[in-house]
Amino acid sequence: MKFQTVCFVIIVKTGFAAGQDNLAFPDGFLLGAATASYQIEGGWDADGKGVNIWDTLTHEHPVFVDDAYTGDVADDSYHLYMEDVKQLKNMGAQVYRFSISWARILPEGHDTIINTRGIDYYNRLINTLLDNGIEPIVSIYHWDLPQRLQDLGGWPNIVLAIYTENYARVLFKNFGDRVKLWITFNEPRIFMGGYTSDTGMAPSINTPGIGDYLTSRTVLIAHANIYHMYEREFKQQQKGKIGITLTGFWCEPLTPDFTERCERYQQFQLGLYAHPIFTGHGDYPSVVIERVDNNSKVEGFTTSRLPKLTSEEVNYIKGTYDFFGINFYTAQVGLNGVVGGIPSRERDMGTIVLQDPNWPVSASSWLRVVPWAFRKQLNWIAKEYVNPPICVTENGFSDYGGLNDTNRVLYYTEYMKEMLKAIHIDGVNVCGYTAWSLIDNFEWLHGYTERFGVYAVNFDDPGRPRIPKESAKVLTEIFNTRKIPE
Ligand code: NOJ
Repeated sequence: MKFQTVCFVIIVKTGFAAGQDNLAFPDGFLLGAATASYQIEGGWDADGKGVNIWDTLTHEHPVFVDDAYTGDVADDSYHLYMEDVKQLKNMGAQVYRFSISWARILPEGHDTIINTRGIDYYNRLINTLLDNGIEPIVSIYHWDLPQRLQDLGGWPNIVLAIYTENYARVLFKNFGDRVKLWITFNEPRIFMGGYTSDTGMAPSINTPGIGDYLTSRTVLIAHANIYHMYEREFKQQQKGKIGITLTGFWCEPLTPDFTERCERYQQFQLGLYAHPIFTGHGDYPSVVIERVDNNSKVEGFTTSRLPKLTSEEVNYIKGTYDFFGINFYTAQVGLNGVVGGIPSRERDMGTIVLQDPNWPVSASSWLRVVPWAFRKQLNWIAKEYVNPPICVTENGFSDYGGLNDTNRVLYYTEYMKEMLKAIHIDGVNVCGYTAWSLIDNFEWLHGYTERFGVYAVNFDDPGRPRIPKESAKVLTEIFNTRKIPE
């Protein structure tokens, strides 16, 4: 299958039709696996790559990362990418979602210096994928900002919206003849957290309720800049699709009395980014605007902590999508309560969330197994944003390692069943799914202690062999039969 951008076939609501196989994937549905540059590549200073904020965090503040791990070598995919492609091919994956390391292409962050060896690396990867019949899905930004741009203030500085556009242009020029599916940003809700705590995600800057909202505005404008630039300069020739990947835990009201609280939670988690892009009205959700404005006033701020979008910006951002990327993992139970403390997004949201202790655990404190929540989240998106094409760009389970990963097998099969119910019974327009993750990798602040791969990697072995876990075998069966085993 070469260049087959079939993801966006509208899947018509079929209901529980007699004879329909609700465990089977619809025709045209894309199946594969995902990774991200800093988490797998290594080669942190190889061949002219510049420093990024995760290099800085792991080198200068190792205490924030479990066991002081770094991504300096990680899975060494910078040298072993052919091994990754081999495993994808073995699994029968149709698509591979990976991200590009900005500082590998533009070591200084801006486009006056282009590192041709970085370009060569991604050309090799893309060509090897295509030679093996695997279509690339490329994330332009998955959290590894060039340090030089952080030195200008990072995402809270609106000037980054221009630098991102210029970086994306370099990618379209060099790879757009072969890459047809692009994701502008991965999970801005999470990386905006890099500006809410000085012990958190890179760059670990402590301006809660301020730096994170400034980040949202920059990201929305950068996303729209990329989308419009692609339309103007490349679309006609390259005919690719552009989306953004968002994330949120599903919020399940403890009782019907808490429905409004959960709805608010959804709006603060997904709506902050999705409402401006995916609704006809555009702009931030009104509940977000009202609450942040109001809290800011009470806290004595002269201007609201939420930087507003002008009406021109609202129109400019609205509708800038070809698909909705969603990373889905887990759920929370939402209830009433007062969130105190310093000004923050949590306080603005004002919803107390807990995880049900009966839900099965994983190695990650935030990740419990709640398959039915996947169907609810997909339905919420379809209803809220008028059934856009949805690509599930991540879904996966963490443990502490081992090849006999029965809990991961159960996670994948149960979550996929719920996704198929959303498609076949509810008519949600889901058109692709990439499992997180192809290989064990650097799990951010938890280093290599939490394992998400369907292929195991021994990080003590310099050869970094990729060994299939039980889950890789089950995904191989699913990808090849295009059906969940009964
Ligand atoms: C989402 C992020 O995109 C990815 O980088 C991370 O490893 C997984 N969640 C698991 O935490």
